[in-house]
Amino acid sequence: MNLAIVGSGYVGLVTGTCFAEVGHRVICVDNDLKKVHSLQDGHIPIYEPGLEELVKKNVAAGRLSFTTSIGDAVAASTVIFIAVPTPPQPDGSVDLSFVEGVAREIAVHLTGEYRIVVDKSTVPVKTGERVAQTIKRYKPDADIDVVSNPEFLREGSAVADLMNPDRIVIGVSSDRAIEPMKEVYTPFNAPIMITDLNSAELIKHASNSFLALKISYINAVAAICEASGANIELVADGMGADKRIGRAFLNAGIGYGGSCFPKDLSAFIRISEELGYNFRLLKEVEEINQDQKDRFLKKIRESLWVLRHKKIGVLGLAFKGNTDDVRSSVAITVVKALLAEGAEVKAYDPKGMEKAQALIPEAKLVATAEEVADGADAVLVLTEWTDFKSLDWLGIKKRMLSPLLFDGRNLLNPEEMRSLGFTYTSVGR
Ligand code: UDX
Repeated sequence: MNLAIVGSGYVGLVTGTCFAEVGHRVICVDNDLKKVHSLQDGHIPIYEPGLEELVKKNVAAGRLSFTTSIGDAVAASTVIFIAVPTPPQPDGSVDLSFVEGVAREIAVHLTGEYRIVVDKSTVPVKTGERVAQTIKRYKPDADIDVVSNPEFLREGSAVADLMNPDRIVIGVSSDRAIEPMKEVYTPFNAPIMITDLNSAELIKHASNSFLALKISYINAVAAICEASGANIELVADGMGADKRIGRAFLNAGIGYGGSCFPKDLSAFIRISEELGYNFRLLKEVEEINQDQKDRFLKKIRESLWVLRHKKIGVLGLAFKGNTDDVRSSVAITVVKALLAEGAEVKAYDPKGMEKAQALIPEAKLVATAEEVADGADAVLVLTEWTDFKSLDWLGIKKRMLSPLLFDGRNLLNPEEMRSLGFTYTSVGR
């Protein structure tokens, strides 16, 4: 099929590339000329395992191309995906101006041939209806259907998630859009769920909020573990063995971050409010997430007493492992808090340093994990990079001034670390 993706950011680029990989012809559009040129040259602006190879392969095969022209993409494609950013506004609601702008631009280029306009960006419920109204307003005789098709890909495993999805959700307002949408997704061999537009949009917000709730729940239980001497790992394993609960997203730590959960939660709370429901449960999820960082910082303060002029080594700046994304990263928040209290921070991240530098200019970023430990009063693990597990921890300890190790992601083995001579603190263990 001929497909267009408007917006070549994280979601758009990965989605377009995977569509091309299964045999569709895909035109990716972006209004950033520099980005389009660099994509045409095979440069990928983000770190995502497996993506670069797939982009190069599909560009070479003539199935994937990049342009700044929405007009060309609309003319060539039956299905047009909108995958532009939906950033948060100060009041927690979502800025839909990019989605609205693209809808208008698509409308201008419609010629009367049938087109399906698909909302891929994460949007509040009822946005699809608005997109349809907008297109009709600017092109009253447009022959279109608007579809909601939320993405569920995780950064760091986005290609794998997209190629092997648990389910495909397709929200439609007319049966005519069903068959072409099924054709897009049949190669992925996943269950396809057809719903109405509003339900599809809600599935996305409700899923992400539920995952965030799982994390806050286990973090709250971790606090009880600390107070009672129980072990959160054993509790999570025991809970997770129940198939109705599941072990995924029950890893206690310093809380969730990233460009999705914090934003989606506040957007869901906002839209619920607008619809007349006070979603108190999710407000509590947010508060627990905030507390989690504060509780971690408190443990550091309790050990070090005074933070001013203390040398603190930080391992991990990305919002989670396997990504270079530092947006709304809890690690960055913790580093900022330490800097604000006068600590001297040396930090390392396998992929996120370049993007982190601008956010924490006062921190010294070093080239290897070991260097953060040089003369350090304490070392903190703030991102769940598996690489950190296999570091030479004894060597790290020898470089430190005092052997305080704070593991904010429960990444390391407590007994092992203590046997190496660390005073080891983690979350709920
Ligand atoms: C999330 C959703 O998982 C994905 O389906 C959606 O499309 C986009 O939002 P992502 O933001 O890439 O994906 O990351 P995810 O793996 O979900 O992790 C989010 C945050 O939760 C990270 O900061 C991570 O460290 C934290 N987390 C995750 C925990 O603290 N504990 C866990 O058990 C799992």
